Amino acid sequence: MKLLLTTLSAIALAAPAAAQVRALDNGVEVARGQMAVRVTALTPSILRVRLADGGEWPEDASWAVPTEVRAKRVKVNAAPDGFATEALRVSVDPKTLQVTVRDPAGKVIVRDAYSPVIGPGGGFGMGKDMPMGERYYGLGDKTGPFDRRGASYVHWNTDTFGYGRETDPTYKSIPFYVATGGEGGSYGLFLDNPTRSWFDFGHRHDGDLEIGAPEGPADYYLIAGPSMAEVVRRYHDLTGKAPLIAPWGLGYQQSRYSYMSDTEVREIAGRLRKDKIPADVIWLDIDFQDRNRPFTTNARTFPDLPRLAHDLKVDGFGLVAITDLHIAHAPDQNYAPYDSGVAGNHFLRTGKGETYVAPVWPGPSVFPDFTRKASRDWWGGLYKDFVAAGIAGFWNDMNEPAIFETPSKTMPLDNIHRIDGDGFATREAAHSEVHNVYGMQNSRATFEGLRKLDPEARPFVMTRATYAGGQRYAVTWTGDNNATWDHLKLSVQQLVSLGLSGFSYSAADIGGFTGGPSPELLTRWIQIGAFTPVMRVHAAKDTPRSEPWVDGPEHLALRRKAIEERYRLFPYLYAVAEQQARTGDPIVRPVFYDFAASGCDSPMSFTLGGDLLVAASPKPESPQPYDVCLPKGGWYDYWSGRKVTAKAGEKADSVGETPRIDRLPVFVRAGTILPRQPLVQSLRETPRGALELAIYPGPDCGGTLYLDDGKARAIERGAYLRQSFRCAETAEELRIELGAREGRWKPWWREFRVTIHGPAGTGTVRLDKRGVAAVHDEAAETLTFLIPDTGTAARVTVAAR
Ligand code: NOJ
Repeated sequence: MKLLLTTLSAIALAAPAAAQVRALDNGVEVARGQMAVRVTALTPSILRVRLADGGEWPEDASWAVPTEVRAKRVKVNAAPDGFATEALRVSVDPKTLQVTVRDPAGKVIVRDAYSPVIGPGGGFGMGKDMPMGERYYGLGDKTGPFDRRGASYVHWNTDTFGYGRETDPTYKSIPFYVATGGEGGSYGLFLDNPTRSWFDFGHRHDGDLEIGAPEGPADYYLIAGPSMAEVVRRYHDLTGKAPLIAPWGLGYQQSRYSYMSDTEVREIAGRLRKDKIPADVIWLDIDFQDRNRPFTTNARTFPDLPRLAHDLKVDGFGLVAITDLHIAHAPDQNYAPYDSGVAGNHFLRTGKGETYVAPVWPGPSVFPDFTRKASRDWWGGLYKDFVAAGIAGFWNDMNEPAIFETPSKTMPLDNIHRIDGDGFATREAAHSEVHNVYGMQNSRATFEGLRKLDPEARPFVMTRATYAGGQRYAVTWTGDNNATWDHLKLSVQQLVSLGLSGFSYSAADIGGFTGGPSPELLTRWIQIGAFTPVMRVHAAKDTPRSEPWVDGPEHLALRRKAIEERYRLFPYLYAVAEQQARTGDPIVRPVFYDFAASGCDSPMSFTLGGDLLVAASPKPESPQPYDVCLPKGGWYDYWSGRKVTAKAGEKADSVGETPRIDRLPVFVRAGTILPRQPLVQSLRETPRGALELAIYPGPDCGGTLYLDDGKARAIERGAYLRQSFRCAETAEELRIELGAREGRWKPWWREFRVTIHGPAGTGTVRLDKRGVAAVHDEAAETLTFLIPDTGTAARVTVAAR
């Protein structure tokens, strides 16, 4: 469905012969011959660029960018050569239709390398300049290099069991990259075309970043920074932020394909508690179902699911159950999802109009029409019994969609979907048009259904396939990886790249899905995984077991220590998660996200929320010593709490590390106030004791506390607590300001245990005017004291010795 150019109300401006320039109140449109380009400003820093052939514009519709966001506009005064916003100068060459975006000082942010082309079938191609030194990140969890320069990718959601570094395409399509290091600063490009598209970062033609698609709209957004963080936040303004996760979603999650029975699940839960491994979730993979049929339970092996869910809940666990999208083709068998789906006409049809039936786990299966609202609503209702049974979260797997016994691994391209809403006309669409959003709309149907069934709960949905904007509905994971050191390495890059691409909540199967990890590999993966957004151990059928205890007490102790640390860090982790829900700042980030000037770019180093820097070895399998790149400003060792003596470099400092299995190097930025809590075995448990504020003095010193009741509308209802802390050092004293508290959520603590790290500030402590007893541990270089938390602003001073 196309809209006619003539529907535009526009004023013609004088322009060179043959080109027609129209000034729009929010941009400009330039037509030459059959081709036209329209550039509009949604905000001063976000532009939308669309191409038309033959005077017809694609529908103004999107799965990724909500209608109200697409409707945003800033007023500009267009001239024949383009227009300017507060932040950008945009020009469109009337001869070539090439678009150039500059900053107000005239520095080029991004420029077309040549004229864009549109093919007769609606396909298009375009090229952007690739200045030397510019680097490219994003594209979700795609394989290949972290910096995408020199690589080439296709967006086509594909089930890639046991994929490798070279495998492409894989499960998701997030056609968004952020470029950094160009003269005009960082920018992002999001191609909003869910058909099969490709991005080539100078692989085919050195110096040209080429983008194209054989079909679908030429509709893309250019997002200016100048910093990478500003680009990423604005990408979230466009496609939405992941809603704040339920606290238990940040706990340790134990999975396997499959825990085969109620008894086995109870054994796993019992062992986690007996071995004192903090844990919050156990996953039910496909074998808990009757004959792999979604929304059923195997009555023999799981005789009483509500009872199991109840007993585990008492013990601090939630269950996450798989609910694949393929519904068994089971006429006349009293299989409700099939019967109600047929009754509501919810299944996809072939190009010939017959119900499409194809093999997946249940055998012959049928496939819901997730791009159609009525079918999404029906799907959401299927969760009713599981929600009533007390299942805490749900897993949408296989939704590329994966189809067995076919070389394409997916359904025929001419299968018929029905689409409506989101700006789309109510119409039919071939599978090729919506393939890449199918998984996203599956997770949307689940998320929206769960929200309806239990408006108080925050839905926890994990999806394998998705598209840009899918972060509004689900967390994701990197699919069927392998138990190899290279995959551990790849997983770090994938999680960081996902964070830059909207998906802050990401997981990789810890230990690797296929194969079986060596004890050292599993330990290291758990240690690193403890500092990643969603922490789940998962492994395939017929592989060695990979629960934390399987390699004996020494490895168990190391794994427990890592998981315990995650639980202690929960107040920090949750505040970082809340920050992402508000701003879009990813939970795990490349070091250069917060410290652009440092040039620190090891793919095995990342920060958790900007203040904790995790620095695994770039060769994680090797005992070879390595240097950790530390941005200027000072760092503390997380484990010892001591200030690091780093070697000064030009842009960053460095410290040497010799790999040891009992140490994952983690550093705290000097200037951090880190909230931590007493150890619990489940995040559903109320901690006992004081809330710890660990202070690491340094420049720009501060920290934030955010906690709430874990419910869906906590902030709206005021059921949260937010407090900021600042610290500043002078020659005489260290001053700590406890900010005023916001929100009505009642904390579980009465006191703060303040620990000041480092050799300085070990003198008398005063809370406002009163003296406070403090313990100075000279060897540990800490000063510790307790102060009552009265809920009001307060000042603590620590005199220098
Ligand atoms: C494929 C998924 O990627 C994997 O994690 C899961 O265990 C199997 N399907 C079985 O459901």
